[in-house]
Amino acid sequence: MAKFPELQTERLVLRRLMPSDAPAIARYRSLPEVARYQSWDAFTLDDAERLVADQAAVTSDASGTWLQLAIVASEVVGDCGLHFLDEKQVELGLTLDPGHQGKGLAAEALRAVLDHLFGTLDKNRVVATTDAENAAAAALFARLGFRREAHHVRNVWFKGLWGDEFVFGLLAAEWGRG
Ligand SMILES: CC(C)(COP(=O)(O)OP(=O)(O)OC[C@H]1O[C@@H](n2cnc3c(N)ncnc32)[C@H](O)[C@@H]1OP(=O)(O)O)[C@@H](O)C(=O)NCCC(=O)NCCS
Repeated sequence: MAKFPELQTERLVLRRLMPSDAPAIARYRSLPEVARYQSWDAFTLDDAERLVADQAAVTSDASGTWLQLAIVASEVVGDCGLHFLDEKQVELGLTLDPGHQGKGLAAEALRAVLDHLFGTLDKNRVVATTDAENAAAAALFARLGFRREAHHVRNVWFKGLWGDEFVFGLLAAEWGRG
């Protein structure tokens, strides 16, 4: 398994997934309010165990791969996906247990991830695609300084309807590096 360092913040540790994370991930990912704007509807323990198992083969910082991190406080409170698009660009995804939302933990986790991507891994651009109706996600990326670069209109067939998506982007230079 490729090394990815543990990222520490004031309240959190971000690290690669481990088998014991599966029950927590299945529990919060299967909640309707969490699944609402995500690619899944149900998310079973089997799905979570497969996610963790598949991650064992994932190499960090390899173009074309999604690296999944657990966001841990006293327990697993969420997970964060890093999609290495190419050598210089990364796409992010984030899911937080509703019991731990509204406390600034998502922003705290992503700040550590962005410091690592721009600082240690020398990436140039980070992007995130969100459902245009996902106000919490839009607020999160705006709070971190992302620009809304695109509003794609009815571009995705999503849970039985055509949906709109926003694309948010942030450059290394905008994260305080030149
Ligand atoms: C998107 C998501 C991660 C955002 O989580 P979040 O907890 O709202 O985000 P933040 O960590 O930035 O927290 C911000 C909130 O915490 C509050 N807060 C409380 N204490 C805080 C602190 N110490 N520091 C900062 N904010 C704090 C803020 O006021 C804000 O509240 P508000 O939403 O009422 O304005 C979450 O809604 C989620 O997991 N949704 C389901 C999955 C999903 O749709 N993911 C998006 C796909 S990319």
